[in-house]
Amino acid sequence: AADIPVITIDGPTASGKGTLADEVGKALGFGVLDSGALYRVTGLAARRAGLDLDDGAAVAAIVPSLRLRFSEGHVFLGTEDVSARLRAEATGLLASQVAVHPQVRAALHQLQLDFRRLPGLVADGRDMGTALFPAAPLKVFLTASAATRAERRYKQLISKGISANIESLREDLEARDERDKNRSASPLEPAQDALLLDNSALGIEESVTQVLGWWQRRRPF
Ligand code: CDP
Ligand code: CDP
Repeated sequence: AADIPVITIDGPTASGKGTLADEVGKALGFGVLDSGALYRVTGLAARRAGLDLDDGAAVAAIVPSLRLRFSEGHVFLGTEDVSARLRAEATGLLASQVAVHPQVRAALHQLQLDFRRLPGLVADGRDMGTALFPAAPLKVFLTASAATRAERRYKQLISKGISANIESLREDLEARDERDKNRSASPLEPAQDALLLDNSALGIEESVTQVLGWWQRRRPF
């Protein structure tokens, strides 16, 4: 699997990682890994099981029993379509709480590596370039200003029929970014050889074009 190409896209919340990963994946015919969804599902399942989210060993222990299925942009937990539930910012906060534990990260490690299949993979998250695929030939670190990101997430939630409040959303995103940057296990930081892309003033298409351009130039295959 080590010679299957991977493009990693890491960055803070609502910077546009998922959208960029989907579009680049489509353009290249590559599969896509939304690693955040795995942390979101784990946080949600742990909360539903009444677990103490500060107990990393207990949360990690439920990962093997999660009956997860990804199908056409939807995520199923058992027979339940949890897609909308996963997108809620409350679930994002649960995800970031369980994501601080090395045991939880270890429990999700192989599951993420299994997404690496031919002809290639675009992987989005926080540690795709630093921990999961450190040898990936193209690593992107995607950023945008905090105000831009809060506004994007707000519009995205509203358009999906999920209620949101811009002020509390801004606070929640900030809390999550702080926790992600300051944890000791795989914190949010650019890989040494990551290319930085600030898309505050870029549309989705322009960002996709930039990444595809980088891919054409460095592709060693
Ligand atoms: O995956 P991540 O949380 O980083 O962000 P996303 O879900 O891909 O993007 C958040 C929202 O920002 C989506 O509704 C995107 O359509 C939007 N977006 C945008 O308006 N302009 C961009 N250049 C990138 C994303
Ligand atoms: O879409 P957004 O960027 O808001 O969040 P996400 O990518 O779905 O990730 C939700 C949370 O999961 C993040 O705030 C991180 O705490 C955690 N996460 C992580 O630790 N490592 C990853 N590779 C992906 C997500």
